[in-house]
Amino acid sequence: MSQLRLLDLDLDLAIPSASGLAARAEEFCGAAPHRHDPFARRNWGGPLHSLCSYQGKLKPAIGHFLVSWFTEPGWRVLDPMSGVGTIPLEARRQGRIAVANDLSPLADCVSRAKVEPFDPHDVATIVDELAAFISSGPSLDQVASEDDLSFGLNGPIRDYFHADTLREVVLARRFFLVEQGLPLAARDVVRSSLLHILHGNRPYALSRRSHPVTPFSPTGPFEYRPVMERLTERLQRVLPLLEELMEVGLPGESHLGDFRDLECPTVDAVITSPPFAKSFRFWSMNWMRLWFAGWEREDFASEPKKYLETEQRQDFAPYGDFATAMHRLLRPGGVLVLHLGETASVNMAEELGPLIEPLFEIHHVGRECVLDTESHGLRDKGATVAHWYLFGTRRAD
Ligand SMILES: C[S@@+](CC[C@H](N)C(=O)[O-])C[C@H]1O[C@@H](n2cnc3c(N)ncnc32)[C@H](O)[C@@H]1O
Repeated sequence: MSQLRLLDLDLDLAIPSASGLAARAEEFCGAAPHRHDPFARRNWGGPLHSLCSYQGKLKPAIGHFLVSWFTEPGWRVLDPMSGVGTIPLEARRQGRIAVANDLSPLADCVSRAKVEPFDPHDVATIVDELAAFISSGPSLDQVASEDDLSFGLNGPIRDYFHADTLREVVLARRFFLVEQGLPLAARDVVRSSLLHILHGNRPYALSRRSHPVTPFSPTGPFEYRPVMERLTERLQRVLPLLEELMEVGLPGESHLGDFRDLECPTVDAVITSPPFAKSFRFWSMNWMRLWFAGWEREDFASEPKKYLETEQRQDFAPYGDFATAMHRLLRPGGVLVLHLGETASVNMAEELGPLIEPLFEIHHVGRECVLDTESHGLRDKGATVAHWYLFGTRRAD
């Protein structure tokens, strides 16, 4: 299939009816449009998809085509496990109403920044308040105990930053946790920008040299890197893009919580990429950003139990709850698309199919081998050998 044909399909697709869905799904799995140039390029989709790095993020081009091939403009499109909002951002860009949800405060924060409208004046006010909070704030030992600063999963947090930067980072974290009255979308635009620059190996990073996705133990000199200066640079880069998005995209919404508890108006489609089997170290891979988003030391022991990453280590029974929750939120006939992982020992499509089937008619299930895909420099590429796509529609009550 030629590139032109792929683009034609992207632009001209008709509404997926239940009967047409199987054919379209089969065509999607055969063509894998996201694997063709330019969609396969590492940075395809632009800087907003990289608003904040996140271990476990979906390739934006997959989200792009799942939205364009399987939903219509104006539809409410829900991702109940949205991570950093890759699918919701693609939905919003393509004229859908994006609904994001995630149990992680880090994921919710970044999703909200990508889908909810905000007032740029609020962003400026929050930046000023944050600057004042940091400059008038107390010293490091007044805001954090030695015990707080010795926390960290690849070395203590105090090893990542120059002492003056660390003081500002700790105060910025506290600012977002104690200032309850801030307008949420504007707050999360600022906070996402800060979360992104927290650690990495680029000049913008606040930390000593580490990895931008996962904070591996740092190397290099302890240099003072002023939080407000770096944050302002980051905002100058992303704010015009977010403002442009508000002009073209419909306002969406982000929810924080378990998908089982999600309450929102009925949606037309659910497109989601649940945690892949054996991806149970998500909290350690994202630990510093989770800490900044509010997790305390003890949360790293108690919170992971609540996540599907952990639950599905026992068995996939929680996906029965998932099917029930999505059936409750989707309109009859509404579309369900799951992007799933296969490891050498577990095929999630096989495991989930029987749990989804009582409430959804399954039209097609297709496989994509991913052994040839890039690792983005991470040492732990994960155990995934293939991706699966499951396409269904909600059965009537
Ligand atoms: C593979 S990631 C999704 C990545 C996302 N597509 C992206 O591009 O960032 C799976 C997500 O499921 C979320 N999650 C796990 N259990 C959950 C639950 N019970 N309710 C809501 N979200 C959950 C995790 O926090 C994680 O962000």
